[in-house]
Amino acid sequence: MLVSATEMLKKARAGKYAVGQFNINNLEWTKAILLTAQELNSPVILGVSEGAGKYMTGVNTVAAMVKAMDESLGITVPVALHLDHGSYDGCYQCIKAGFTSIMFDGSHFPIDENVAKTTELVNVAHALGLSIEAEVGSIGGEEDGVVGAGECADPNECKMIADLGVDFLAAGIGNIHGKYPENWAGLSFETLAAVNEKVGEMPLVLHGGTGIPDEMIAKAISLGVAKINVNTECQLAFQEATRAYIEAGKDQQGKGFDPRKLLAPGFEAIKAKVKEKMELFGSVNKA
Ligand code: 13P
Repeated sequence: MLVSATEMLKKARAGKYAVGQFNINNLEWTKAILLTAQELNSPVILGVSEGAGKYMTGVNTVAAMVKAMDESLGITVPVALHLDHGSYDGCYQCIKAGFTSIMFDGSHFPIDENVAKTTELVNVAHALGLSIEAEVGSIGGEEDGVVGAGECADPNECKMIADLGVDFLAAGIGNIHGKYPENWAGLSFETLAAVNEKVGEMPLVLHGGTGIPDEMIAKAISLGVAKINVNTECQLAFQEATRAYIEAGKDQQGKGFDPRKLLAPGFEAIKAKVKEKMELFGSVNKA
């Protein structure tokens, strides 16, 4: 059931668990995530970066596919279709396409410009029943060509953006996209606690979920994180399973070259990874 992410994240924050945002790349990804959410009776957020949207021939295609698949599979758990790290124009394209949630990433703008653009988009999104995420402080690493140096958010700026009426807020706390380097300093719980103190009941978002140790995830949830984004870990799970299938020569046995067979191990690996994360985040049976 396609819905905005507002209610599911309010409930998660109050219930001290987090809803996973899993980024999608194609039909297999989408189907694997939707089926796992339904099997585990968990709410879920499908994240679409602008790069992945272009890859799938545009956000209209993505919205049509997700809407049709949600219906065809008989999905009854709450599902939000969410733009990840949206530009100003990208937000409008996704609103028009029928997404149920957007993220406006104005973190690279001076704070006044971030405030002005976020304010406008909050009004438009809410008038149409969509939820909206904003970002303060940048998430480090690289995702689809968007590169961030990774700076911890200023709690006062978080309050300023939270007060604009956004539904959930991504605050940089030393998290980065992609794999964490050996010398990563870990999440800054000092920053997270200070942000949480300033923004009241606002659900906080932890980007860069790949590779964060379980105990840091638990602590982040205890400090107000109610949405955790995972992308790279599903890609790695898909890649490992596909590699094993090919290295075992299974693509050369019988009709093993059929894409429905070739992509099946990767599909199952994504399902297993999403299940592991939903259990870790505590969203199972919270639909
Ligand atoms: P990872 O690729 O590190 O899992 O991060 C995902 C993310 O934050 C999407 O916005």
